[in-house]
Amino acid sequence: MNFKKEYEKLASIAADEILSAKGREKLEEIKIKFLGRKGQLSLLMKNLGSLEAEERPIWGGKLNSLKKKLTQALEEKVKELLDESKKYEAIDYTLPTGDISLPGRNPVLSVLEDVSEIFTEMGFGIAYGPEIETDYTNFTALNFMDDHPARDMHDTFYLRDSDMLLRTHTSPVQIRIMQNYPPPYKFIAPGKCYRRDTIDASHLPVFHQVEGLMVDKDVNFSHLKGILDEFARRFFKEKIQTRFRPSFFPFTEPSAEMDIACTICEGKGCPSCGGNGWLEILGAGMVDPEVFRHCGVDSNIWQGFAFGMGVERMAMIKYGIDDLRLFFQNDLRFLEQF
Ligand code: PHE
Repeated sequence: MNFKKEYEKLASIAADEILSAKGREKLEEIKIKFLGRKGQLSLLMKNLGSLEAEERPIWGGKLNSLKKKLTQALEEKVKELLDESKKYEAIDYTLPTGDISLPGRNPVLSVLEDVSEIFTEMGFGIAYGPEIETDYTNFTALNFMDDHPARDMHDTFYLRDSDMLLRTHTSPVQIRIMQNYPPPYKFIAPGKCYRRDTIDASHLPVFHQVEGLMVDKDVNFSHLKGILDEFARRFFKEKIQTRFRPSFFPFTEPSAEMDIACTICEGKGCPSCGGNGWLEILGAGMVDPEVFRHCGVDSNIWQGFAFGMGVERMAMIKYGIDDLRLFFQNDLRFLEQF
């Protein structure tokens, strides 16, 4: 063999071949060809003996630095190919995984599903509305007078330079449905709401409500009570005690709040219910004729009731959770319990 010629050949092509290798397999082939135990480099090593004695250390040194150079080029190429494959998320989905523990459902989601299921079983449809509303649909059409203090009670996020806002409750969905479809109506409307609250154990700037509306020719307050009682029985337990207290909402008349007997002390009074034995679960009332008027629905023919409940509150009562923030911190120690 002509040692020097072979060396020059190897030195001139090997690095280029490594750099232009396409894919790991090709690179492995090249590695074996040049650097393998029987590869071209070791062949030359073995042939050092064919050189003149004084030339051997010089060429031996050259071979060593070529080996170093090629090994480094190879390592760089492997890294480059790896980075490339990461770019395409080359994950083999067919590989078996180890044991992974999946947390249960977030209780807020479970409550949303349970509530939706109970009402759909009672013949309610499900409607959705946008989270960005106008001042008109969120307040005016719901009979909140200009300057009415109730407007301030809903600490509202307004969108800059417009009359748009993040809805403070799901009641504007009533307006959107009634303005766009003819009566009768029987639906619930679950969704997110926003209020400018400072975060603590019982306040978050974003939360969920489920609205409900039932309008027909002979709907009265007994229907409201009957449906909501039935809901409480199915959601909490068969023998739950309920009561309705008079209340005020601009868009219902008369208005009421519904309480259930405290699920912890069964009505005797404990710290959870503030000692009075009852827990408020929702607001409700008969749709105010003024709301019908804004929606073009004739209140001489149609009557109905509406209700609205806070989903997080229902989840806290049902699962005995005392801090609202737990729902959104994604702490596995919390979520794994559901
Ligand atoms: N929208 C009311 C609130 O957020 C709840 C409600 C809905 C009350 C429907 C009565 C009827 O407080």
